[in-house]
Amino acid sequence: MTHPAGSLLTAADLHKAYGPTVALDGAEFSIHPGEVVAVMGPSGSGKSTLLHCLAGIVPPDSGSIRYNGQEMAGMSDTQRSALRRSEFGFVFQFGQLVPELTCVENVALPLRLNGTPRKAAERAALSWMERLEVDGLGRKRPGEVSGGQGQRVAVARALVTDPRVIFADEPTGALDSLNGERVMELLTEAARTTGAAVVLVTHEARVAAYSDREIVVRDGRSRDMERAV
Ligand SMILES: Nc1ncnc2c1ncn2[C@@H]1O[C@H](COP(=O)(O)OP(=O)(O)O)[C@@H](O)[C@H]1O
Ligand SMILES: [Mg+2]
Repeated sequence: MTHPAGSLLTAADLHKAYGPTVALDGAEFSIHPGEVVAVMGPSGSGKSTLLHCLAGIVPPDSGSIRYNGQEMAGMSDTQRSALRRSEFGFVFQFGQLVPELTCVENVALPLRLNGTPRKAAERAALSWMERLEVDGLGRKRPGEVSGGQGQRVAVARALVTDPRVIFADEPTGALDSLNGERVMELLTEAARTTGAAVVLVTHEARVAAYSDREIVVRDGRSRDMERAV
């Protein structure tokens, strides 16, 4: 496949191996602005590797990744990290909040790293925490809140810079189903209001129900659900 027109982020013929282990073996991907795409597949199939490559965290061995038409491999490290900080937001399975910071400081952190003054950053952080229904937890530290609350704080942190793409790797994997569904509802609702695209890695069909389209990864190869059937 080449890079489909009108897509925000595309990947073609991605290969990645860790020593003898093949993680990606010709994977392809595309997402449009504002689209929510679920990346499904069994454990070990290459979902996280695909996400890390798409987000510019891990370089593929070969293949092409384009963001807004620009080839990622052609960018400098500085350009790629600027992209990650200003255009991308991240939510992982375990929130990866900074334990020493309060929840509001955690949410404000990406803005602080981009040079926003503390007051303005915390104001923006609190308004996102309100939308994620965790504004009451601002002064608590991550160790003092529940798993579901922590993931909502992590979602607020992913959204605070108004990213164009949110990468979520099994964001509800450590939550019970009720909390997981609420986090998914809030994440997709927020993305739809800001127009962010979401790359949502999950192995739960229930979570994929929140997506516009599903891609299945098997043995490092990906395909669209419609074409798979
Ligand atoms: N940093 C790494 N070092 C060595 N092997 C890795 C690394 N990351 C992933 N792998 C291997 O690559 C394959 C794909 O892993 P991954 O992308 O994490 O799959 P998934 O997210 O679908 O469970 C697996 O066999 C895994 O063990
Ligand atoms: Mg994974």
